Amino acid sequence: MHADTQARFQKYVIANYTRYPVCLERGVDSRVWDDEGNEYLDFFPGWGCGILGHCPPRVVAAVQEQVARLIHVPNTWHTDAQGLLAEALCTRSGWPAAKAFFCNSGTEANEAAIKLARLHGGQGRFKIITMLNSFHGRTMGALSATGQPKYHAGVSPMLPGFAYAPFGDLDAVARLIDPETCAIMLEPIQGEGGINIPPPGYIEGLRELADKHNLLLIFDEVQTGMGRTGTWFAHHHWPVQPDIVTLAKALAGGIACGGLIARPEVAQSLKPGTHAATFGGNPVACAAALATIETIESDGLLARAVEIENRFRKRIEALMESCPWVTEFRGRGTMIGIQLAVEGAPVVKACMERRLLINCTHNTVIRLLPSLTLTDEELDRGCAILEEELARLGQTAS
Ligand SMILES: Cc1ncc(COP(=O)(O)O)c(C=O)c1O
Repeated sequence: MHADTQARFQKYVIANYTRYPVCLERGVDSRVWDDEGNEYLDFFPGWGCGILGHCPPRVVAAVQEQVARLIHVPNTWHTDAQGLLAEALCTRSGWPAAKAFFCNSGTEANEAAIKLARLHGGQGRFKIITMLNSFHGRTMGALSATGQPKYHAGVSPMLPGFAYAPFGDLDAVARLIDPETCAIMLEPIQGEGGINIPPPGYIEGLRELADKHNLLLIFDEVQTGMGRTGTWFAHHHWPVQPDIVTLAKALAGGIACGGLIARPEVAQSLKPGTHAATFGGNPVACAAALATIETIESDGLLARAVEIENRFRKRIEALMESCPWVTEFRGRGTMIGIQLAVEGAPVVKACMERRLLINCTHNTVIRLLPSLTLTDEELDRGCAILEEELARLGQTAS
């Protein structure tokens, strides 16, 4: 990295992130280059936002066209792009009917869902049950919903009204319901919490509990949505329709965009004056999202997500036979977790030195969120590096 870039960061940028000493300059698909010309293979493009990899051509073209025509108008006006995006999402939900609201990020989408649940719940019904190990964002409402005390440290008190149940435990959710409860909110597959797939019957059981107690069922699909798991939304893997789904990350192929869709009877509680976002649903983000959806559809990338999962699964499960410290492969589409019995940070560092970008979450889970456009050649090349480093990890740990 150039010394002046580093110096500028040290002097002017608040150090709230742990950054690699690398300055990235440009990217194409699953490849990205730093300012010294080094090429990296990216198995974690944009922290889950790069569902089509870096600079997908149709998204670039749509943004260029839109940005030259109209960059931003507030929500006092209609725009073609916002209406088309709402239609594209609602019609892909598979629900009988749905309505959309737009904002700019995942945490904002969850703030909107929390407010909508409280507005819909009515007088005295404000409590929301969420899950331990969940991650819903960093603003105070979404942070309060996040069932991880480490993220609450130093910024408490949290917003009142959140109670946490272990992920996968239906009885624990049932025990937390009281007359003040208005919703159950969860990631259908936990992402930051370690790529945790719910046990059979859990999602269906939550729907039954919600129906029995007149609660909303909210799915945070910020990480799982937009084709990541091989279906438009992860909840399509179960015969369950939620009341609200929140989206962001991959929604606009890397351009900041968030939103939610809700059943119309629920959506009507969001009346003028109750909620807003100045940049929400701006035409540039909406054009990018439409181009993302069109690319996924026309290039058959939902099916590709499953092929990628299967290829990774085969390789990692074969590795597990000789590496007992690699204990489990968990994945749905291009949402992949490799559970280790030891710390994963050394693998991330070693892979980065070999120009492969991956992530580790919850200390012991290697997390991959590769692009749906990842080729077999790229997958095999990167996976070979990952396998070597996972194998080496056990040798150094023992
Ligand atoms: C499931 C989930 N919800 C919400 C968020 C927060 O999204 P953002 O960082 O866009 O606010 C994240 C981010 O990682 C996430 O994974």
